[in-house]
Amino acid sequence: MRTSRWLKLVGLCGAILLLFATATGAAVQGELEIFSWWAGDEGPALEALIAMYEEKHPEVTVINATVTGGAGVNAKAVLKTRMLGGDPPDTFQVHAGQERSGTWVVANRMEDRTWLYEEEGWMEVFPADLLDLLSTDEGIWSVPVNIHRSNVMYYIPDNLAQWGVDVPKTWDEFFAIAPKLEAQGIIPLSVGENWTATHLWECVALSVLGPEKYGQLWDGTLSWKSPEVIEVWELFGRILEYTNPDAPSLSWQQATDMVVNGQAAFNIMGDWASGYMSTTLKLEPGTGYGWAPAPGTEGVFIMLSDSFGLPVGCRHRENAIAWLRMLGSLEGQDTFNPLKGSISARIDSDLTKYNVYLQSAANDWRTNRIVGSLAHGVVANERFMNDFATVMDIFLATKNAEAAANAAEAVAIQAGIGR
Ligand code: GAL
Repeated sequence: MRTSRWLKLVGLCGAILLLFATATGAAVQGELEIFSWWAGDEGPALEALIAMYEEKHPEVTVINATVTGGAGVNAKAVLKTRMLGGDPPDTFQVHAGQERSGTWVVANRMEDRTWLYEEEGWMEVFPADLLDLLSTDEGIWSVPVNIHRSNVMYYIPDNLAQWGVDVPKTWDEFFAIAPKLEAQGIIPLSVGENWTATHLWECVALSVLGPEKYGQLWDGTLSWKSPEVIEVWELFGRILEYTNPDAPSLSWQQATDMVVNGQAAFNIMGDWASGYMSTTLKLEPGTGYGWAPAPGTEGVFIMLSDSFGLPVGCRHRENAIAWLRMLGSLEGQDTFNPLKGSISARIDSDLTKYNVYLQSAANDWRTNRIVGSLAHGVVANERFMNDFATVMDIFLATKNAEAAANAAEAVAIQAGIGR
């Protein structure tokens, strides 16, 4: 009697397990559309993750839907049309912070991922400050794949030696060496299209304001019209005098190429430029190219984090959940990041897999003061970022600091910055 009850119980558990296995097995099949801007030169790290996914889930056909364009300027416009048109991709690249929370979460377009974080034990492996950027009071909204740093200045050590200049630690030092470079026919600082100017702007803003006041821009306690912020625009304008005139027509890679080719001395870019130089151009970090904090920002790390979320109403939800699980895993992160030029968002990452640049970035991430990037979605929502791009265009054309400060104040109010 007892044996037969026992057998029944075992049989029942077996049936449940079988059902569960069939259900999950059956669910992860069909297609998975991954939407991002990691195309071409930016592609290798994502492609490595996709290869890993395909190996784990051979029944799934991955559609790698990329829209080229640094910082996602083009991809985000396409995404908006698709999301608002009720045709979301299964998962999409989005920065942790306001770009996602102040745009897609407030519009109720994202699924809460708290249960996935609990199942995977991610509350313990992602740093608390990052978890804050991934969350609102209502939930956790995306899975981070990395940490990037924005305030990095790149150069080629041999070129600097040949031109007889050192890496400037401050903008004053930069102004002291810039004429010397120009006299040798070298552009002191290369810049690319509009968003790369904003990227430079945030580094200049941090150098003038310091981390405290830089943060106050985003919580609404420092006016955009304050003298310090006008000073940021003025300094930014002076710096632009030492940049290439064809900037608006160059991608970030082309601006980096100018440094690599010896046309320019420096470029300020996120550490995807390190990934581009090491993974794509096969330069050795340290000897083939060098790096330093953007002038005046030593000890501060402007961070951003690429993450992927699950839009409400996507077509292949289970496949996307399997993708997110893999992204957050140690194996996923330590495969993606050494190629991408970013560090893992996890605290238990294996640093021996990372090159010397990334090891130094990991050290700075642990020890520096951390602030969030404007150009890459941490501190402001899409509305502000779009309107700020227009303010930037106007400034690039007019160089009028006061007008830019007034315009930025107006767009900050309209976009609800700090409220
Ligand atoms: C950033 C993104 C990076 C890199 C960069 C250049 O916004 O976070 O991963 O792709 O744009 O396109």
